[in-house]
Amino acid sequence: MKAVDEVIRARLSSEVVLIRQVAEYIIGAGGKRLRPALVLFAAGATGYRGTHHHDLAAVVEFIHTATLLHDDVVDESDLRRGNSTANAMFGNAAAVLVGDFLYSRAFQMMVTVDNMRVMSVLSDATNTIAEGEVLQLMNCHNADVDVEAYLRVIRYKTAKLFEAAAQLGAVLGRADPDVEQDLARFGMHLGTAFQLIDDVLDYSGDERTTGKHLGDDLSEGKPTLPLIHVMQHGNSQQSAVVRKAIEEGGREDFPAVIDAIRATGALGEARRRAQVESSLAMDALSRLPSSTYKDSLVQLTEFAVARNY
Ligand code: IPE
Ligand code: IPE
Ligand code: MG
Ligand code: MG
Repeated sequence: MKAVDEVIRARLSSEVVLIRQVAEYIIGAGGKRLRPALVLFAAGATGYRGTHHHDLAAVVEFIHTATLLHDDVVDESDLRRGNSTANAMFGNAAAVLVGDFLYSRAFQMMVTVDNMRVMSVLSDATNTIAEGEVLQLMNCHNADVDVEAYLRVIRYKTAKLFEAAAQLGAVLGRADPDVEQDLARFGMHLGTAFQLIDDVLDYSGDERTTGKHLGDDLSEGKPTLPLIHVMQHGNSQQSAVVRKAIEEGGREDFPAVIDAIRATGALGEARRRAQVESSLAMDALSRLPSSTYKDSLVQLTEFAVARNY
Protein backbone atom coordinates (compact mmCIF):
# COMPACT_ATOMS: atom_id res chain seq x y z
CA MET A 1 0.00 0.00 0.00
CA LYS A 2 3.00 2.27 0.57
CA ALA A 3 4.13 1.60 -3.00
CA VAL A 4 0.59 2.37 -4.20
CA ASP A 5 0.65 5.63 -2.32
CA GLU A 6 3.91 6.55 -4.04
CA VAL A 7 2.36 5.90 -7.46
CA ILE A 8 -0.67 8.00 -6.47
CA ARG A 9 1.53 10.90 -5.36
CA ALA A 10 3.74 10.75 -8.46
CA ARG A 11 0.80 10.60 -10.87
CA LEU A 12 -1.20 13.44 -9.30
CA SER A 13 1.22 15.91 -10.78
CA SER A 14 0.11 18.55 -13.23
CA GLU A 15 1.45 21.93 -14.24
CA VAL A 16 -2.00 23.32 -13.68
CA VAL A 17 -2.08 24.66 -10.16
CA LEU A 18 -5.80 24.23 -9.49
CA ILE A 19 -5.62 20.56 -10.50
CA ARG A 20 -2.84 19.95 -7.98
CA GLN A 21 -4.74 21.83 -5.28
CA VAL A 22 -8.07 20.04 -5.69
CA ALA A 23 -6.56 16.59 -6.29
CA GLU A 24 -4.22 16.92 -3.30
CA TYR A 25 -7.11 18.17 -1.22
CA ILE A 26 -9.33 15.15 -1.70
CA ILE A 27 -6.59 12.51 -1.92
CA GLY A 28 -4.70 14.00 1.03
CA ALA A 29 -7.82 13.51 3.16
CA GLY A 30 -7.16 9.78 2.95
CA GLY A 31 -10.03 7.41 2.54
CA LYS A 32 -10.07 3.73 3.36
CA ARG A 33 -8.26 2.64 0.17
CA LEU A 34 -10.30 -0.56 0.05
CA ARG A 35 -10.38 -0.88 -3.73
CA PRO A 36 -6.59 -0.67 -4.16
CA ALA A 37 -6.19 -3.17 -1.32
CA LEU A 38 -8.51 -5.48 -3.23
CA VAL A 39 -6.30 -5.29 -6.34
CA LEU A 40 -3.22 -6.17 -4.26
CA PHE A 41 -4.87 -9.04 -2.38
CA ALA A 42 -6.34 -10.56 -5.55
CA ALA A 43 -3.00 -10.25 -7.35
CA GLY A 44 -1.21 -11.86 -4.40
CA ALA A 45 -3.80 -14.60 -4.05
CA THR A 46 -3.29 -15.59 -7.69
CA GLY A 47 0.49 -15.58 -7.44
CA TYR A 48 1.38 -12.32 -9.21
CA ARG A 49 4.94 -11.22 -8.53
CA GLY A 50 5.48 -8.03 -10.60
CA THR A 51 4.78 -4.37 -9.84
CA HIS A 52 1.87 -3.57 -12.18
CA HIS A 53 -0.54 -4.25 -9.31
CA HIS A 54 0.70 -1.02 -7.71
CA ASP A 55 -0.16 0.91 -10.88
CA LEU A 56 -3.58 -0.69 -11.25
CA ALA A 57 -4.39 -0.17 -7.58
CA ALA A 58 -3.63 3.54 -8.07
CA VAL A 59 -5.74 3.58 -11.24
CA VAL A 60 -8.70 2.12 -9.37
CA GLU A 61 -8.29 4.68 -6.58
CA PHE A 62 -8.17 7.52 -9.14
CA ILE A 63 -11.35 6.30 -10.79
CA HIS A 64 -12.98 6.00 -7.36
CA THR A 65 -11.85 9.52 -6.42
CA ALA A 66 -13.15 10.94 -9.70
CA THR A 67 -16.56 9.39 -8.99
CA LEU A 68 -16.53 10.94 -5.50
CA LEU A 69 -15.74 14.40 -6.88
CA HIS A 70 -18.64 14.11 -9.31
CA ASP A 71 -20.94 12.36 -6.85
CA ASP A 72 -20.62 15.13 -4.25
CA VAL A 73 -21.58 17.72 -6.85
CA VAL A 74 -24.60 15.69 -7.95
CA ASP A 75 -25.60 14.87 -4.36
CA GLU A 76 -24.92 18.45 -3.21
CA SER A 77 -22.91 16.98 -0.32
CA ASP A 78 -20.69 19.22 1.75
CA LEU A 79 -18.82 16.78 3.98
CA ARG A 80 -16.46 13.98 2.83
CA ARG A 81 -13.61 12.24 4.64
CA GLY A 82 -14.23 14.52 7.59
CA ASN A 83 -13.58 17.68 5.57
CA SER A 84 -15.61 20.04 3.44
CA THR A 85 -16.14 18.44 0.02
CA ALA A 86 -14.11 19.70 -2.94
CA ASN A 87 -17.25 21.24 -4.42
CA ALA A 88 -17.90 23.13 -1.18
CA MET A 89 -14.26 24.32 -1.07
CA PHE A 90 -13.52 25.03 -4.73
CA GLY A 91 -16.94 25.12 -6.39
CA ASN A 92 -18.82 22.67 -8.63
CA ALA A 93 -16.94 23.56 -11.80
CA ALA A 94 -13.51 22.82 -10.33
CA ALA A 95 -14.74 19.56 -8.76
CA VAL A 96 -16.24 18.30 -12.04
CA LEU A 97 -13.23 19.25 -14.13
CA VAL A 98 -10.65 17.81 -11.73
CA GLY A 99 -12.77 14.65 -11.66
CA ASP A 100 -12.33 14.53 -15.44
CA PHE A 101 -8.59 15.00 -14.99
CA LEU A 102 -8.44 12.02 -12.62
CA TYR A 103 -10.48 9.80 -14.96
CA SER A 104 -8.26 10.62 -17.91
CA ARG A 105 -5.05 10.28 -15.85
CA ALA A 106 -6.29 6.84 -14.80
CA PHE A 107 -6.65 5.91 -18.47
CA GLN A 108 -3.14 7.18 -19.27
CA MET A 109 -1.79 5.02 -16.46
CA MET A 110 -3.65 1.85 -17.44
CA VAL A 111 -2.33 2.12 -20.98
CA THR A 112 1.23 1.83 -19.64
CA VAL A 113 0.38 -1.65 -18.32
CA ASP A 114 -0.08 -2.60 -21.99
CA ASN A 115 -2.65 -5.34 -21.46
CA MET A 116 -5.87 -5.33 -23.49
CA ARG A 117 -7.79 -7.38 -20.88
CA VAL A 118 -6.93 -4.80 -18.23
CA MET A 119 -8.20 -1.97 -20.42
CA SER A 120 -11.35 -3.90 -21.22
CA VAL A 121 -12.17 -4.52 -17.53
CA LEU A 122 -11.52 -0.92 -16.53
CA SER A 123 -13.28 0.77 -19.42
CA ASP A 124 -16.36 -1.43 -18.88
CA ALA A 125 -16.35 -0.68 -15.15
CA THR A 126 -16.04 3.08 -15.65
CA ASN A 127 -18.88 3.06 -18.15
CA THR A 128 -21.12 0.99 -15.86
CA ILE A 129 -20.50 3.35 -12.91
CA ALA A 130 -21.70 6.24 -15.05
CA GLU A 131 -24.81 4.25 -15.97
CA GLY A 132 -25.43 3.54 -12.29
CA GLU A 133 -25.21 7.17 -11.30
CA VAL A 134 -27.58 8.17 -14.11
CA LEU A 135 -30.01 5.36 -13.27
CA GLN A 136 -30.00 6.59 -9.68
CA LEU A 137 -30.66 10.12 -10.86
CA MET A 138 -33.71 8.86 -12.74
CA ASN A 139 -34.92 7.06 -9.60
CA CYS A 140 -34.63 10.10 -7.35
CA HIS A 141 -37.97 11.30 -5.98
CA ASN A 142 -39.61 8.09 -7.23
CA ALA A 143 -41.21 6.29 -4.29
CA ASP A 144 -42.19 3.31 -6.46
CA VAL A 145 -38.62 2.10 -6.98
CA ASP A 146 -38.50 -1.54 -5.88
CA VAL A 147 -35.73 -3.64 -4.34
CA GLU A 148 -34.65 -5.01 -7.73
CA ALA A 149 -34.23 -1.52 -9.22
CA TYR A 150 -32.35 -0.37 -6.12
CA LEU A 151 -30.00 -3.36 -6.27
CA ARG A 152 -29.30 -2.67 -9.93
CA VAL A 153 -28.24 0.88 -9.11
CA ILE A 154 -25.86 -0.17 -6.34
CA ARG A 155 -24.35 -2.97 -8.40
CA TYR A 156 -23.62 -0.53 -11.19
CA LYS A 157 -22.52 2.53 -9.26
CA THR A 158 -20.47 0.81 -6.54
CA ALA A 159 -20.08 -2.96 -6.80
CA LYS A 160 -18.80 -2.84 -10.38
CA LEU A 161 -15.56 -1.13 -9.33
CA PHE A 162 -15.01 -3.69 -6.55
CA GLU A 163 -15.62 -6.39 -9.16
CA ALA A 164 -13.09 -4.80 -11.51
CA ALA A 165 -10.50 -4.40 -8.75
CA ALA A 166 -10.66 -8.06 -7.76
CA GLN A 167 -10.75 -9.24 -11.37
CA LEU A 168 -7.72 -7.11 -12.29
CA GLY A 169 -5.65 -8.81 -9.62
CA ALA A 170 -6.58 -12.16 -11.17
CA VAL A 171 -5.79 -10.92 -14.69
CA LEU A 172 -2.32 -9.86 -13.54
CA GLY A 173 -1.86 -13.20 -11.77
CA ARG A 174 -2.82 -15.00 -15.01
CA ALA A 175 -5.38 -16.99 -13.06
CA ASP A 176 -7.51 -19.64 -14.80
CA PRO A 177 -10.69 -18.16 -16.30
CA ASP A 178 -12.86 -19.79 -13.62
CA VAL A 179 -10.73 -18.35 -10.81
CA GLU A 180 -10.82 -14.93 -12.49
CA GLN A 181 -14.60 -15.21 -12.64
CA ASP A 182 -14.74 -16.28 -8.98
CA LEU A 183 -12.76 -13.20 -7.98
CA ALA A 184 -14.97 -10.95 -10.12
CA ARG A 185 -18.06 -12.45 -8.46
CA PHE A 186 -16.41 -12.01 -5.06
CA GLY A 187 -15.88 -8.30 -5.77
CA MET A 188 -19.45 -7.84 -6.98
CA HIS A 189 -20.95 -9.33 -3.80
CA LEU A 190 -18.46 -7.51 -1.58
CA GLY A 191 -19.25 -4.18 -3.24
CA THR A 192 -22.98 -4.78 -2.95
CA ALA A 193 -22.63 -5.48 0.78
CA PHE A 194 -20.47 -2.38 1.08
CA GLN A 195 -23.06 -0.07 -0.50
CA LEU A 196 -25.95 -1.64 1.46
CA ILE A 197 -24.07 -0.69 4.64
CA ASP A 198 -23.27 2.76 3.24
CA ASP A 199 -27.00 3.29 2.85
CA VAL A 200 -27.62 2.09 6.42
CA LEU A 201 -24.95 4.50 7.72
CA ASP A 202 -26.68 7.38 5.96
CA TYR A 203 -29.46 6.94 8.57
CA SER A 204 -27.52 5.70 11.57
CA GLY A 205 -23.85 6.61 11.35
CA ASP A 206 -21.89 8.95 13.55
CA GLU A 207 -20.78 11.86 11.38
CA ARG A 208 -17.45 12.15 13.19
CA THR A 209 -16.74 8.52 12.35
CA THR A 210 -18.11 8.33 8.79
CA GLY A 211 -16.79 11.77 7.86
CA LYS A 212 -20.05 12.35 5.92
CA HIS A 213 -23.33 14.04 6.79
CA LEU A 214 -26.30 11.94 7.85
CA GLY A 215 -29.44 12.33 5.81
CA ASP A 216 -27.80 13.21 2.48
CA ASP A 217 -29.72 10.38 0.79
CA LEU A 218 -33.06 11.50 2.15
CA SER A 219 -32.40 15.10 1.32
CA GLU A 220 -32.03 14.09 -2.33
CA GLY A 221 -35.09 11.85 -2.30
CA LYS A 222 -32.99 8.69 -2.91
CA PRO A 223 -35.10 5.55 -2.53
CA THR A 224 -32.54 3.34 -0.73
CA LEU A 225 -33.32 -0.04 0.84
CA PRO A 226 -34.22 1.25 4.35
CA LEU A 227 -36.91 3.48 2.83
CA ILE A 228 -38.19 0.80 0.45
CA HIS A 229 -38.51 -1.53 3.45
CA VAL A 230 -40.66 0.99 5.35
CA MET A 231 -42.94 1.49 2.35
CA GLN A 232 -43.38 -2.25 1.86
CA HIS A 233 -43.67 -3.33 5.50
CA GLY A 234 -44.72 -0.28 7.50
CA ASN A 235 -48.30 0.69 8.33
CA SER A 236 -50.08 3.19 6.11
CA GLN A 237 -48.94 6.16 8.18
CA GLN A 238 -45.25 5.12 8.19
CA SER A 239 -45.39 4.39 4.51
CA ALA A 240 -46.97 7.78 3.75
CA VAL A 241 -44.28 9.65 5.72
CA VAL A 242 -41.53 7.99 3.71
CA ARG A 243 -43.31 8.37 0.38
CA LYS A 244 -43.72 12.09 0.94
CA ALA A 245 -40.08 12.47 2.03
CA ILE A 246 -38.84 10.72 -1.13
CA GLU A 247 -41.10 12.73 -3.39
CA GLU A 248 -40.27 16.08 -1.84
CA GLY A 249 -36.66 15.56 -0.66
CA GLY A 250 -35.14 17.91 1.91
CA ARG A 251 -34.31 17.32 5.55
CA GLU A 252 -37.50 18.40 7.33
CA ASP A 253 -38.94 14.89 7.44
CA PHE A 254 -35.72 13.29 8.70
CA PRO A 255 -36.87 12.75 12.34
CA ALA A 256 -40.21 11.23 11.29
CA VAL A 257 -38.50 9.02 8.72
CA ILE A 258 -35.98 7.85 11.33
CA ASP A 259 -38.88 6.91 13.63
CA ALA A 260 -40.51 4.87 10.86
CA ILE A 261 -37.18 3.21 10.03
CA ARG A 262 -36.66 2.24 13.69
CA ALA A 263 -40.23 1.01 14.18
CA THR A 264 -40.10 -1.26 11.13
CA GLY A 265 -36.61 -2.69 11.69
CA ALA A 266 -35.57 -1.41 8.27
CA LEU A 267 -31.87 -1.03 9.09
CA GLY A 268 -31.72 -4.56 10.51
CA GLU A 269 -33.23 -5.86 7.28
CA ALA A 270 -30.70 -3.94 5.17
CA ARG A 271 -27.86 -5.26 7.36
CA ARG A 272 -29.22 -8.79 6.95
CA ARG A 273 -29.08 -8.42 3.18
CA ALA A 274 -25.54 -7.09 3.40
CA GLN A 275 -24.65 -10.18 5.43
CA VAL A 276 -26.11 -12.41 2.72
CA GLU A 277 -24.01 -10.64 0.08
CA SER A 278 -20.93 -10.96 2.23
CA SER A 279 -21.53 -14.73 2.63
CA LEU A 280 -21.91 -15.05 -1.15
CA ALA A 281 -18.60 -13.20 -1.50
CA MET A 282 -16.90 -15.66 0.87
CA ASP A 283 -18.40 -18.62 -1.04
CA ALA A 284 -16.83 -17.26 -4.23
CA LEU A 285 -13.39 -17.69 -2.65
CA SER A 286 -13.75 -21.42 -2.03
CA ARG A 287 -11.60 -22.50 -4.99
CA LEU A 288 -8.77 -20.12 -4.14
CA PRO A 289 -5.81 -21.82 -2.42
CA SER A 290 -5.07 -20.77 1.17
CA SER A 291 -2.75 -17.79 1.59
CA THR A 292 -2.41 -14.68 3.72
CA TYR A 293 -3.88 -12.78 0.73
CA LYS A 294 -6.98 -14.93 0.80
CA ASP A 295 -7.25 -14.37 4.57
CA SER A 296 -7.13 -10.63 3.89
CA LEU A 297 -9.90 -10.92 1.30
CA VAL A 298 -12.03 -12.66 3.93
CA GLN A 299 -11.26 -9.92 6.47
CA LEU A 300 -12.23 -7.27 3.95
CA THR A 301 -15.56 -9.02 3.52
CA GLU A 302 -16.17 -9.00 7.25
CA PHE A 303 -15.20 -5.34 7.45
CA ALA A 304 -17.63 -4.37 4.67
CA VAL A 305 -20.54 -5.43 6.89
CA ALA A 306 -19.18 -4.62 10.38
CA ARG A 307 -17.85 -1.19 9.50
CA ASN A 308 -19.08 2.06 11.02
CA TYR A 309 -17.03 4.30 8.71
C1 IPE B 1 -17.62 5.96 -0.72
O1 IPE B 1 -16.70 4.93 -0.79
C2 IPE B 1 -18.53 5.85 -1.89
C3 IPE B 1 -19.33 4.64 -1.89
C4 IPE B 1 -19.31 3.79 -2.86
C5 IPE B 1 -20.20 4.36 -0.78
P1 IPE B 1 -15.66 4.69 0.40
O2 IPE B 1 -16.41 4.59 1.68
O3 IPE B 1 -14.78 3.56 0.04
O4 IPE B 1 -14.86 6.05 0.39
P2 IPE B 1 -13.41 6.40 0.99
O5 IPE B 1 -12.47 6.27 -0.17
O6 IPE B 1 -13.08 5.45 2.09
O7 IPE B 1 -13.53 7.83 1.44
C1 IPE C 1 -21.48 6.58 -4.13
O1 IPE C 1 -22.79 6.54 -3.74
C2 IPE C 1 -21.28 5.89 -5.46
C3 IPE C 1 -20.28 6.55 -6.28
C4 IPE C 1 -19.50 7.49 -5.87
C5 IPE C 1 -20.18 6.13 -7.67
P1 IPE C 1 -23.25 7.47 -2.52
O2 IPE C 1 -23.70 8.80 -3.01
O3 IPE C 1 -24.16 6.69 -1.65
O4 IPE C 1 -21.88 7.64 -1.73
P2 IPE C 1 -21.61 8.66 -0.55
O5 IPE C 1 -22.53 8.30 0.54
O6 IPE C 1 -21.83 10.02 -1.12
O7 IPE C 1 -20.16 8.37 -0.20
MG1 MG D 1 -23.13 10.69 -2.48
MG1 MG E 1 -24.16 7.20 0.60
